[in-house]
Amino acid sequence: MALAVSCRDLYKRYDAKKKKPVDALNGLNLEIEVGECFGLLGPNGAGKTTTVEILEGMLKETSGYVEVLGRQWNGKDDDAIRQRLGISLQETRLNEKLTVRETATLFRSFYREGREPDEVIAMVALEEKADAWVGKLSGGQKQRLAVACALAGDPELLCLDEPTTGLDPQSRRELWDIIREQKSRSRTTLLTTHYMDEAQRLCDRVAVVDHGKVIALGSPSELIHQLGGEHIIEFALAESNGQTSADAFTSLPAVSTARFENDGYCLTVTEPHVALPALINKLESDQLSLARITTRHVSLEDVFVTLTGRHLAAEELDDTL
Ligand SMILES: Nc1ncnc2c1ncn2[C@@H]1O[C@H](COP(=O)(O)OP(=O)(O)OP(=O)(O)O)[C@@H](O)[C@H]1O
Ligand SMILES: [Mg+2]
Repeated sequence: MALAVSCRDLYKRYDAKKKKPVDALNGLNLEIEVGECFGLLGPNGAGKTTTVEILEGMLKETSGYVEVLGRQWNGKDDDAIRQRLGISLQETRLNEKLTVRETATLFRSFYREGREPDEVIAMVALEEKADAWVGKLSGGQKQRLAVACALAGDPELLCLDEPTTGLDPQSRRELWDIIREQKSRSRTTLLTTHYMDEAQRLCDRVAVVDHGKVIALGSPSELIHQLGGEHIIEFALAESNGQTSADAFTSLPAVSTARFENDGYCLTVTEPHVALPALINKLESDQLSLARITTRHVSLEDVFVTLTGRHLAAEELDDTL
């Protein structure tokens, strides 16, 4: 198994004058195989961008071991890594005084081999804007241009830090196609995203990062299976019923976990056809009445909430995408 990325025991401390240092990474371990689409998931401040920027050679780790495409950022191999790497940063800082084509041409010039400027512009559907100033592009268009620049060197490892945040559904789908194409050519993609369903659709494996550490690792379906059930029953009790502890529902047949959040309960269940009648019976015998009830499939969002007790606070994508 060839590795595109390997890092062990990665620590990063941001020191600031007169301020408490921030320990952004606290012993993070990661191995990404060549040809994988790998997702880094986690809430704001988890350490995703810090990790990606260390892998990209833009930031120096405080301690730990980092290997990218079989080499280390040691000064000697830096250019060799850069030639095989495509990067799109979370916050794009492109020169506003260049046109789209000039920007793509500039990035192409950084690489000995790669894709022609018009080709990458077409890949992100910016042909109509090829002669427009970068400063006149919309936020989503700038982001797409940043991805085009990341593709300029036809990279073996494509690192995209939240590439789809703020994109319209059509542009998001086009970006997914770019990532899938990368995968079809056995090239590696490292992606950070807050969209759980995006990770589920695209990623072979994901690492859930929290407080600078990987707290869960596996394929989306493996992580979902670890929850102990593939279905969720969500329900709320009528207000007149008062508060019932979520623990009261964990002993029901086919229920693996139960939690209370916002104004309702969320049960992870293995067999909805067993759990649902049992739940209805219990509510009846306890003289509790329902305000609403729905069932759905478990998502990576549920995995995250179960692991951390917090939501990732991302809007769900339209199922029709
Ligand atoms: N230059 C910096 N100086 C000081 N602290 C920093 C710096 N950059 C990041 N941090 C801190 O490091 C932690 C990790 O930040 P990072 O940007 O890696 O998170 P993230 O997972 O990418 O979050 P987001 O989802 O918001 O993009 C945060 O607490 C952040 O405030
Ligand atoms: Mg980030």
